[in-house]
Amino acid sequence: MLDRYEATLSGLARKSRLRTLGPRSGLDFASNDYLGLARSKRLAEAVAAALAAGTPVGATGSRLLRGNDPEHEALEAKAADFFGAERALFFGGGYVANFAVLTTLPQKGDLIVLDKLIHASAHEGARAGRAEVTEAAHNDADAVNDAIRAWRTRGGTGRAWIVVESLYSMDGDRAPLDGLIEVADRHDAFLYVDEAHATGVYGPDGRGLAHDLEGRDNVVVLHTCGKALGASGALVTAPEVLCNYLVNRCRPFIYATAPSPLMAVAAATALDIVADEPDRRERLARLVALADKRAEDLGLPARGSQILPIIVGDNTRAMALAEALQSHGFDVRGIRPPTVPEGTARLRISLTLNVDKADVSALFDTLAETWERTP
Ligand SMILES: Cc1ncc(COP(=O)(O)O)c(C=O)c1O
Repeated sequence: MLDRYEATLSGLARKSRLRTLGPRSGLDFASNDYLGLARSKRLAEAVAAALAAGTPVGATGSRLLRGNDPEHEALEAKAADFFGAERALFFGGGYVANFAVLTTLPQKGDLIVLDKLIHASAHEGARAGRAEVTEAAHNDADAVNDAIRAWRTRGGTGRAWIVVESLYSMDGDRAPLDGLIEVADRHDAFLYVDEAHATGVYGPDGRGLAHDLEGRDNVVVLHTCGKALGASGALVTAPEVLCNYLVNRCRPFIYATAPSPLMAVAAATALDIVADEPDRRERLARLVALADKRAEDLGLPARGSQILPIIVGDNTRAMALAEALQSHGFDVRGIRPPTVPEGTARLRISLTLNVDKADVSALFDTLAETWERTP
């Protein structure tokens, strides 16, 4: 009865692709807690104060039934204002929000154009929905344009949806948003931007890389709350009518218990912190500059972002390098296919305020040694 599952796991092990859960240890070069907010005193105190004031731990139901807490609404009002959108809607997480939006807003007869390196959750949502789906070369606005043109030539009459990340989670590079919005406008298309790794870190007050596109009729943005905001959940910012549509038609929103109201308090407080404490972004930028310089000294490309991928290629070597770094006390993770394309296994060095400059220097010293020694 269990043989086929065991066979699959053995196959994964043979290809150096077996995953297991392990304890958290070592210096944090692996989390997405870029601004160190997950353990911030101000965040913890806000949640503790809300709890003491009677905010319930559980939402107790769907937002459409008894689960709609004032804290959800307060967060959404704050987020709409903060990001400059007409409206925001709070979901339990970024994965479910991507799935929810892409199964609900694009309609039958529409086309979804996914960047080739878009996150798994966008793939999942696009494929589970009713629209046709195609992929475009990574960060290539011309390829997106060509995909939409080809679809129109084949008789496509619906709307096109361009779906990208603003800062790619495994590559740390930025989407060409100026070119993409031009393509979207040219084709009367929607642009959907997943800001998971940019929210809180980039843009004025940490409003993200798509901050100047928010509020437009053809732009929908995802801001996750579990990365730089140090909490969990996700905010979809969009025109009012699209949010109303989601409230009425989005099954993952309707048929699910709402996120904890305490998480809404945490996310709202995190928005205040990113606006009030710009020095966090400045400190992170200094770590990025140092890591980039040390990477270049090793002949590796700089990224200019807090996500620094070191492409190794071979799965086994990537994991051996990660283990070697871990054994020296650096929590660096190897990332293998299918999370990244075949042949591009890598170390994903993530920079956060949970480490300091001396830690970054020590990591690169050790990386230089282990790189030579690891076959
Ligand atoms: C680009 C991107 N989008 C969405 C998600 C999912 O967000 P969450 O972790 O809040 O479910 C992630 C998380 O890894 C991500 O990297």
